[in-house]
Amino acid sequence: MDAFKHNVLAGKTAFIVGASSGINLGIAQHFARQGARIVVVSRTEAKIAAAAAGIVEAGGDALGIAADVRDFAALDAAFMQASDRFGKIDIVISGAAGNFVAPAAAMSANGFKTVIDIDLIGTFNVLRASYPYLNRPGASLLSITATQGTNPAMFQAHACAAKAGINMLTKCLAMEWGPEGIRVNAISPGPIAGTEGMARLTPTPEAEHALKSRLALRDYGSLRDVADTALFLASDNARYITGSIIECDGGCKLGDASTSDIGNFSIKM
Ligand code: NAP
Ligand code: COA
Repeated sequence: MDAFKHNVLAGKTAFIVGASSGINLGIAQHFARQGARIVVVSRTEAKIAAAAAGIVEAGGDALGIAADVRDFAALDAAFMQASDRFGKIDIVISGAAGNFVAPAAAMSANGFKTVIDIDLIGTFNVLRASYPYLNRPGASLLSITATQGTNPAMFQAHACAAKAGINMLTKCLAMEWGPEGIRVNAISPGPIAGTEGMARLTPTPEAEHALKSRLALRDYGSLRDVADTALFLASDNARYITGSIIECDGGCKLGDASTSDIGNFSIKM
């Protein structure tokens, strides 16, 4: 790992929630390569231990802590433990989420509430719990939202409502905490290859192909695409960016960019 270390985040501590797998683990590994000390947080002890061990084995510095984002006291304790070990927190990523595909008419009240509790209230809990522990001025807070936060989607009423709430929360906290030198932004990824999220949303090769054919860039993104976006937003290079929802989505939010409805044709140059 040392051979690739550019030290953009040298001396910084990143507290990354939902980092035991997928997009957030990709961010944690990328930030470690850039010299940050990493705190890996999610619900499942064994997954956290494996994620933290992987970062350490690759030459990074990582601490794993189990906490459910629905439990504010557990998050507060996690921030206290992290700052006892590493000092004030420079970067927070709030990326824990739960999702499943279900028509609203078949969704139980508890099913809807569960996704709101994890995604939206969990994000408030993470960002609010971080507040006393932040290295200010200069702290950068990032939430992971989704195109469902701006574009309605079938069978995603819970995730759409939750991610739309995260987008507004991002802007409100940016206004309130900006005067202290705390930046608050969100990344809205499009479909990212090899993730649990896409395994749930497009579970078959046919569904995956159909979605790709509607994307302007005609492909899924990679973990690295999101991690590079997060690196920029977390770094001092983004020092004048706050309250922004940055899309890393292959054009997903633009809507259907397929040509099937007007037939096949080619443009001669
Ligand atoms: P993932 O691998 O399932 O990651 C979800 C993470 O959240 C895991 O680390 C999970 O770990 C943790 N988590 C779930 N519930 C939790 C809770 N109650 N408390 C604490 N941690 C919890 O999914 P992913 O697809 O990479 O998605 C990561 C983020 O990107 C999510 O915010 C998702 O909405 C967003 N996103 C994903 C895509 C995509 O293409 N995949 C697109 C747009 C947005 P434990 O199970 O150990 O708790
Ligand atoms: N369809 C309809 N309802 C569902 C469902 C599905 N596929 N999966 C769960 N639910 C409902 C449950 O039936 C329950 O409602 P009920 O009490 O009325 O029966 C409610 O959601 C809570 O389910 P439970 O399994 O107790 O929640 P949990 O807190 O243990 O898990 C989930 C949360 C459901 C979101 C689970 O899928 C999860 O942990 N996901 C994390 C990983 C993930 O989703 N990654 C992708 C991120 S985009």
